[in-house]
Amino acid sequence: MRSLRARLILSHVMPLIIVIPLVGVLLTYLLETQVLLAGSSNELELQAALVAEAAAQNPQIWYNPLQAAAFVSQVGGRLSARMMMLSADGHLLATNDTAYRDQLGELLDVPGLRETVQTRQALRVDYGERPGTGAAEVLMPVIGPTLDVIGVIRLTDPLSSVYARFPRTRTLIIAVLAGGALVGVVAGWLLAVDLARPLRRATQAVSQMAEGHPLTELPEQGPNEVRMLLRAFNTLTNQRRELEKSRKRLLANLVHELGRPLGALLSATQALAGGAAQDADLRRELLDGMTGQMQLMRRLLDDLTQLYDQALGPLELERKPVALSPWLTQMLTTWREAAQNKNLHWNTDIPDNLPELNLDADRIGQALGNIISNAVKYTFPGGEVAISAGTKESEVWIRVHDTGVGIPPEEQTRIFDPFYRGTTGRRFPQGMGLGLSIARDLIAAHGGRIEVESAPGVGSTFTLWLPASK
Ligand SMILES: Nc1ncnc2c1ncn2[C@@H]1O[C@H](COP(=O)(O)OP(=O)(O)OP(=O)(O)O)[C@@H](O)[C@H]1O
Ligand SMILES: [Mg+2]
Repeated sequence: MRSLRARLILSHVMPLIIVIPLVGVLLTYLLETQVLLAGSSNELELQAALVAEAAAQNPQIWYNPLQAAAFVSQVGGRLSARMMMLSADGHLLATNDTAYRDQLGELLDVPGLRETVQTRQALRVDYGERPGTGAAEVLMPVIGPTLDVIGVIRLTDPLSSVYARFPRTRTLIIAVLAGGALVGVVAGWLLAVDLARPLRRATQAVSQMAEGHPLTELPEQGPNEVRMLLRAFNTLTNQRRELEKSRKRLLANLVHELGRPLGALLSATQALAGGAAQDADLRRELLDGMTGQMQLMRRLLDDLTQLYDQALGPLELERKPVALSPWLTQMLTTWREAAQNKNLHWNTDIPDNLPELNLDADRIGQALGNIISNAVKYTFPGGEVAISAGTKESEVWIRVHDTGVGIPPEEQTRIFDPFYRGTTGRRFPQGMGLGLSIARDLIAAHGGRIEVESAPGVGSTFTLWLPASK
């Protein structure tokens, strides 16, 4: 009984086991008393009425015992019930009931007789409320030509014919109910098996996943609750798959990104050890190169640290009022140099009247820097990088436009995933695939968002939106 399936089966079968016998007993009782017995007593009353009518048409039989006996044997012979002719005061005039034969002419104590005579109405006495013991009995007054009651006809049916039908009826009812119960149990069983199957499959999949098997999605079948569970499971599976991909990308990018400067450092140290240190100019050049490579590694570690911090919890911003126009103009000068070093056309359009915003300038600077560094990185020499800004309704926008390699539409959402590097970007060696994911989180922490428009071979435009009210 510990498995869900067993409990489900029980929950289906239990009501049947309880309800079906109750229904059976009730049905049998109603059928026997209300239908069969009532029907037979109706029939008896009808017969009594006919006999009484015949008896009223021959009033002389009520005063002549011989004629009375002849009437009883003639009429009563055709009835299944036993018949009695009683005078209005209760004397037995004639009967075909052998039990009363030796009481002919005597005064009988017949229950209900007086009432029948007084009310001049037919009376049913004990017509089988106790099935199996009772007998249907009807007293019918006989009204003479002078309109007074000249006697009473009493018909008594031992109901044996009705009772004989009971066992058959009961067998039929039991058979039908047992059949119903059987169908119910089988249907309950099938339903329970059907319900338990998707759950069992989900459990198996989860344990397989825990054992390290490849992640599989489960078909979302079954009732709503089970379907919801399976959907949640599939969402989890997908998340895990994404996480797995992201982990693989992290490792691949890390190996690549650390390997390259390390290789350069190694060559430089080898050159220095091999005598290059003697030449002052060469030494200077090699040491500068080494510093550059180490700075690259430093930046990489900073990015990773940032990502790790963001994963730990919500960013803590140190917001201060920042006058946007001078701040932007100032921060763009460093990037202008990088762009011009790569022979890019550099254009800026920053209006003087941008509002003052309450923000963490370092973080926004880092986010914007990541976007500008991409524009510079993914644009070939001779191309253009343009920065503009403005306000729209209650928002401030900062736009970074380039005429670089562009991003295919299907990658435009994925580029914000940690460690994701685009296909076009692969031609450019540097990068962990972290810049945009960090930028997006930093902007989101300020209540803003980043939009991208791009076409491969044409260029890209990243727009950063910040709420002006904060
Ligand atoms: N301006 C752009 N032009 C073309 N492709 C871009 C541009 N900006 C981003 N991308 C694409 O989006 C990908 C993700 O960018 P992201 O800045 O997150 O990583 P990255 O530049 O590759 O590495 P990192 O910024 O960590 O050094 C890039 O690999 C590149 O394919
Ligand atoms: Mg980048």
